[in-house]
Amino acid sequence: MRTPLCDLLGIEYPIIQGGMAWVATAELAAAVSNAGGLGIIGAGNMTGELLRAEIQKCKALTSRPFGVNVYYLSPFVEEVMETVIAERVPVVTTGAGNPGKHIERLHANGTKVIPVVASVALAKRLERVGADALIAEGMECGGHIGEITTMALVPQIVTAVDIPVIAAGGIADGRGLAAALALGAQGVQMGTRFVLSEECTVHPRYKEALLKARDRSTVVTGASTGHPVRVLENKLAREFLQREREGASKEELEKLGTGRLRAAVRDGDVEYGSVMAGQIAGFIQDVLPVREIIIRTVREADDILAALGRKAAQSRRDVGILEV
Ligand SMILES: Cc1cc2nc3c(=O)[nH]c(=O)nc-3n(C[C@H](O)[C@H](O)[C@H](O)COP(=O)(O)O)c2cc1C
Repeated sequence: MRTPLCDLLGIEYPIIQGGMAWVATAELAAAVSNAGGLGIIGAGNMTGELLRAEIQKCKALTSRPFGVNVYYLSPFVEEVMETVIAERVPVVTTGAGNPGKHIERLHANGTKVIPVVASVALAKRLERVGADALIAEGMECGGHIGEITTMALVPQIVTAVDIPVIAAGGIADGRGLAAALALGAQGVQMGTRFVLSEECTVHPRYKEALLKARDRSTVVTGASTGHPVRVLENKLAREFLQREREGASKEELEKLGTGRLRAAVRDGDVEYGSVMAGQIAGFIQDVLPVREIIIRTVREADDILAALGRKAAQSRRDVGILEV
């Protein structure tokens, strides 16, 4: 199951854990890295100092490569980058912005830079500024989303760029990993699946809400603000959507959403908190140790690819016989 992405990042399996604000703590990231994937700390709106403590905790828990997700809409993005550089973090993934101005310093430090992209145009632009790989994120995913599905986005980006592409959005098992590889990706990033892991430190009610989710349990709020977000439907989401329909201003909506992810993750407020989750939540039925999630995913993908290979060989033989 090794792909060139594994060599690029120094990991065993081509599985990356999404850098989720408030959710992707040092404990979760270290567990994923220790299991052979790439764990990522979600910097979200952390200050540089808070992030430094989290990075140091992660370093104490694993000697393997890990990453930090830098959120470019954060007011602390510059100090977060300074911390990432000072701490020589092996991998940086970036969201909601262009890491172009930081790439040179990150590379000089030996840090690999992997932006999250939701369009071909952005993928090409970030390849040109020196990205080492890209995460192509489909709109099935939890949190901030683009407009294109994983199935349609991944092959278009794979075709448009020469650097490795990681598929994200709607992937939670070996079938998803096998499908991503079939689309030309060299690995996957999973978010929602890792929220439902034993090592994830979100409030138990957050996990319970995700376990109860079905295929149509998520909705997209915030489209009118230009920053659509996929969350589980609850009282907050319904009020948000109602206020959007009534034409509420961007400022009013931002005020309604402020602090709500923290309320869900830390306080377990799953009715009036922002319970970010992907559409694949409806498929995940258990909370598993991170190691089991990774090993099961890899084994299942391996079996699927081997079975498909055997089927393909058989049909070539059948065609050969028919041709004779
Ligand atoms: C609770 C939650 C918070 C997230 N926060 C961030 C974030 O801060 N930065 C980011 O780039 N992606 C964020 N994401 C997206 C994930 O990193 C990942 O790409 C996504 O979850 C993959 O799709 P999936 O949820 O279908 O597995 C978040 C996702 C979830 C579920």
